[in-house]
Amino acid sequence: PETITVQELANRMAARVPEVVKSLMKLGVMATATQTIDADTAELVVEEFGHRSKRVSESDVELGLEGQEDSETDLKVRPPVVTIMGHVDHGKTSLLDALRSTDVAAREAGGITQHIGAYQVTLESGAKMTFIDTPGHEAFTAMRARGASVTDIVILVVAADDGVMPQTVEAIRHAKAANVPIIVAINKIDRPDANPNRVRSELLQYDIAVEAMGGETQDVEVSALKRQGLDALQEAILLQAELLDLKANPNRSAEGAVIESSLDRGRGPVATVLVQKGTLRQGDIVVAGTEQGRVRAMLDDHGQPLKDAGPSTPVEILGLSGVPGAGEVFVVVENEGRAREIAEFRQRKLREHAAAAGAAARGTLDQMLA
Ligand code: GTP
Ligand code: MG
Repeated sequence: PETITVQELANRMAARVPEVVKSLMKLGVMATATQTIDADTAELVVEEFGHRSKRVSESDVELGLEGQEDSETDLKVRPPVVTIMGHVDHGKTSLLDALRSTDVAAREAGGITQHIGAYQVTLESGAKMTFIDTPGHEAFTAMRARGASVTDIVILVVAADDGVMPQTVEAIRHAKAANVPIIVAINKIDRPDANPNRVRSELLQYDIAVEAMGGETQDVEVSALKRQGLDALQEAILLQAELLDLKANPNRSAEGAVIESSLDRGRGPVATVLVQKGTLRQGDIVVAGTEQGRVRAMLDDHGQPLKDAGPSTPVEILGLSGVPGAGEVFVVVENEGRAREIAEFRQRKLREHAAAAGAAARGTLDQMLA
């Protein structure tokens, strides 16, 4: 079979190797620059890059050169995507609820709150921010492993009466590994035994120096229970977002990540997705991991139907063939045939990987028994 190295493929597309590797990961193929991939895989990568590829002969993959990178002028400011992490019982859910209660859009929607895995808050000023609800540290890692980095900012919740605990440290590690800036929310400040300065000095041990300690990490004292400090926390988020200069091109086909998914008795497979690039529209054909389908309906986090969703918008979509895994990347493709082709290709790759893993395991077992 015809093969090409990842490096050579990148060269021919005038693309960067990490981008090609990322695209391969979306297809379920793990490869480094020097490894070879088969022509079928290469063709899919080329198409994922938005190129038109035509197999001229078995030995030659002809590639177009129009890149899919968005030009600077197409980029528009987008809301930050924020994940709340922290130790058990330090108040993550309470803080999310408190922040959500500040949403003016929720008031307009009649206060209906739908529990989906992500939601957007619109402030009085009109500024928006998107929160991902308790993905858990495992989901966070799984998303990163799949190449879907969805979070722009991590809010590290530390209870002022309890201080830095094991899962606080774990959250710090995750955020640092993902190179995501942290804002420390020192919670439960209403408690008589609250000691925010102890939290600040404990954090130094983990290389987090808040402003009062001469560092650059923002920290905010809050009480999720008494709804104190929420404005300051939102200010901190907006400031951090500004520093990050978050932008995306809304005028292109959508790409994003699956936040959570489930099989609903009445509605079939339901996936909460975060649009990261482009605009997702009702009727679009999407591939998410090994699943595909036409977006039959789209709902926002208030359960209201939506026709389109731009960058940083979380939406629930109906119409997929099955339930995609959390952290899977989704992309809009041009037609249903193409969607099925990619989904089937991925399913085949998955089976091959499983078979290869099984064979390897049997091999070691044979060796052990020999
Ligand atoms: P897990 O999801 O189990 O990890 O917990 P969590 O971090 O989501 O904490 P949760 O919001 O469930 O809060 C845990 C407990 O702390 C609850 O009893 C809350 O009422 C309480 N709590 C949360 N925030 C505050 C606060 O600001 N002040 C006080 N006094 N109690 C709080
Ligand atoms: Mg919770």
